[in-house]
Amino acid sequence: MATLLHLSDIHFGPKHLEDRSAAVLGMVERQPPDLVVVSGDLTQRAKIRQFRAARQFFARLAAPAVFVPGNHDVPLWRFWERLFAPFGAWRRGFDRELVRDFFSPALAVVGVNTAHAWTTKHGRIRRGDISGLAGRFTAAGAGAFRVLVAHHPIVAAPELGDEPVARRGGELIAAARRCGVELVLSGHLHHAFEVPAERALPGGGPLVLQCGTTTSSRGRGAETGHNSFHRITVEPDGIVVERLLWNRESRAFELAVTHRHRRAGAASGRDIIRRT
Ligand SMILES: [Fe+2]
Ligand SMILES: [Fe+2]
Repeated sequence: MATLLHLSDIHFGPKHLEDRSAAVLGMVERQPPDLVVVSGDLTQRAKIRQFRAARQFFARLAAPAVFVPGNHDVPLWRFWERLFAPFGAWRRGFDRELVRDFFSPALAVVGVNTAHAWTTKHGRIRRGDISGLAGRFTAAGAGAFRVLVAHHPIVAAPELGDEPVARRGGELIAAARRCGVELVLSGHLHHAFEVPAERALPGGGPLVLQCGTTTSSRGRGAETGHNSFHRITVEPDGIVVERLLWNRESRAFELAVTHRHRRAGAASGRDIIRRT
């Protein structure tokens, strides 16, 4: 059994809500998961001080953590920086790597960077990340539960509304299925939803979880003014997804919904997960 926390769009900067991040730190300390995954937009405007605040947050997490960049982690207005070193502030203020992967006997979590120099709302997947995905999963143990992380959505779903899927998202999700990936974690939209396996790809694919903004005031749609994250428990035959929402009265994250998805035949590459 493995446990994951899926946070997203933590947006350090003026839109960050300190009480939400303090609550997350407290929950992780009280009940540490095997891994915390943050699916991008660590900052609001890719400023060094915002990256340093994100780094402090990661340092205080009482569990290992991985991350990918989002479009807000590239400077929007600093033209020359954007042109010549779009991830320069990230590397100077946060981490020398853009993506961190995680491997344990129970878990293999691989991230793909969908942000780029001219990123605004739209994500893009580099061809090399698709062709190289299988190679990155070679570090995974035979029994490891395989997870892919990307900031922008890579699977079409009605819940996306007018938001496009990241360019080459279809190719990436197909490659992920070939690699035995059973779960895809994304953010960017600032509202949470699930795309069950039978909708993710014709013939079945990974379960896709979109996380809302966990710690910023930028919630959208049904999560306008709200914050959320996922607690995921991987069992031998199922994936339990709990969505926690911020309660303004109790000033705490509280369980809002629990779904259980059945795992089946990851090795077959078909119908990896079905909703139960
Ligand atoms: Fe965001
Ligand atoms: Fe974003």
